[in-house]
Amino acid sequence: MIFGSGLSLVCTALLATLATASPALYTAELQARQAVDNIVYVTNAQTFCEVPGGMKTYCSPAGRYSPDQGQLPPDFWSNVAFTTGTSSRGARFAQLTGCIRPEKLSRLNPNDSGGQYDSSGGAGGLGNPQGSKCLGYNHYVELVEPADRRACIKCCDNYDDCPLHLDTAGCPQVIPGNYFDCN
Ligand SMILES: *[C@@H]1O[C@H](CO)[C@@H](O)[C@H](O)[C@H]1NC(C)=O
Repeated sequence: MIFGSGLSLVCTALLATLATASPALYTAELQARQAVDNIVYVTNAQTFCEVPGGMKTYCSPAGRYSPDQGQLPPDFWSNVAFTTGTSSRGARFAQLTGCIRPEKLSRLNPNDSGGQYDSSGGAGGLGNPQGSKCLGYNHYVELVEPADRRACIKCCDNYDDCPLHLDTAGCPQVIPGNYFDCN
């Protein structure tokens, strides 16, 4: 059947493309579907993008891949811990926790008690900033707490591993981890 074999040819071509696509290409495809200035990600302690207030992502010098993204000063984090693995719920996660120097980024007020950013809260559950996503994960939550000189970001496959309802409780409650001397 002509239609059938044509379809299977297309499928074979697609499978071949998927099988040979490098992770970098796949990542580039994912990024193409999502505005680059509305993506957070956490690869390691040097390579990441986050939302330091406002509507746009800022990346570490090593993690920035588009001029549309802001760049964090290299010494924005004074002490940062990266952790990745599988949660008690059996789902993947990756997180950064630690201490920041809010005075290094002019868009932050060092006196501000902070705010939460996420992919599933905000108006209509569309995220804050709206439409923001963590690359490679279902869900993320982030807190920036300038007055406590502290920040944290976690990307999760399981919604409950990145809770949104503890925003006023602070980083250590929302994202347990190492907070060094910023507690
Ligand atoms: C932060 O608070 C201090 C002490 O109250 C004040 O002097 C300073 O102007 C404030 N800074 C900003 C950016 O609001």
